[in-house]
Amino acid sequence: MVFAFKDVSKNRGEKTVLRGVSFETPESGVFMIVGPSGSGKSTLLRLFNRLDEPDRGTILYRGRDIRSINPRRLRREVGIVFQTPAPLPGTVEENIGFGPKQLGNDVDVAGLLRQVGLSVDFAGVMADELSVGEAQRMMIARALALRPSVLLLDEPTSALDPASVRAIETLVHNLVRKDEILIVFVSHLTEQVRRIGGEGILIDSGRVIYRDGADKLADMLERIGG
Ligand SMILES: Nc1ncnc2c1ncn2[C@@H]1O[C@H](COP(=O)(O)OP(=O)(O)OP(=O)(O)O)[C@@H](O)[C@H]1O
Ligand SMILES: [Mg+2]
Repeated sequence: MVFAFKDVSKNRGEKTVLRGVSFETPESGVFMIVGPSGSGKSTLLRLFNRLDEPDRGTILYRGRDIRSINPRRLRREVGIVFQTPAPLPGTVEENIGFGPKQLGNDVDVAGLLRQVGLSVDFAGVMADELSVGEAQRMMIARALALRPSVLLLDEPTSALDPASVRAIETLVHNLVRKDEILIVFVSHLTEQVRRIGGEGILIDSGRVIYRDGADKLADMLERIGG
């Protein structure tokens, strides 16, 4: 297992948003976090790489309490892509190279563009000129440029048109097929959960109510009206 959450709770103001959440992720492949809007999925995802800290409970990353791991180091290994792409000023190449450059590492921009299904011609394009679908693929390339062992995707297709949605889903399938990577994929869409596949958890009102394969999770999500 890569991550183990043990009895994790998180408050937001007066409200308890996650309640006694416990689960383990597999070594690689796709781990789905499924649940209706407002159930706590984004709150949960942000705990994986210390963008937020739990109020109670323990999170282990490869057997180590994540509180003992430097957040910047953790985030190099555990990358995240959000719902809406937020490019840095500059070209696609500069965006993709940003992380590795800070570390003094080389980056194969052409290879990364190919991996996310973008033509190498995009390298010199200004990032703010991209369509939302192209920008989201660039954001994934930027995360992959650090060679993470875990990639957290928080509803990465919700701002995209249907063709771009499929492109990202195909990319997820290609990534887990080729690389030794764990993808934690958040979704509230039953059809997407079925298409992505893998295994995971269903959360509702901040509690894990089900752990199963993607098809079963989608059935349960439908039943609770997600
Ligand atoms: N900063 C905050 N202050 C107060 N409440 C918050 C805050 N952030 C989130 N919440 C509440 O916490 C709950 C869980 O929010 P969260 O964003 O994790 O849900 P979600 O499952 O990701 O929803 P969605 O599918 O709409 O993205 C919601 O009820 C939300 O209103
Ligand atoms: Mg969310």
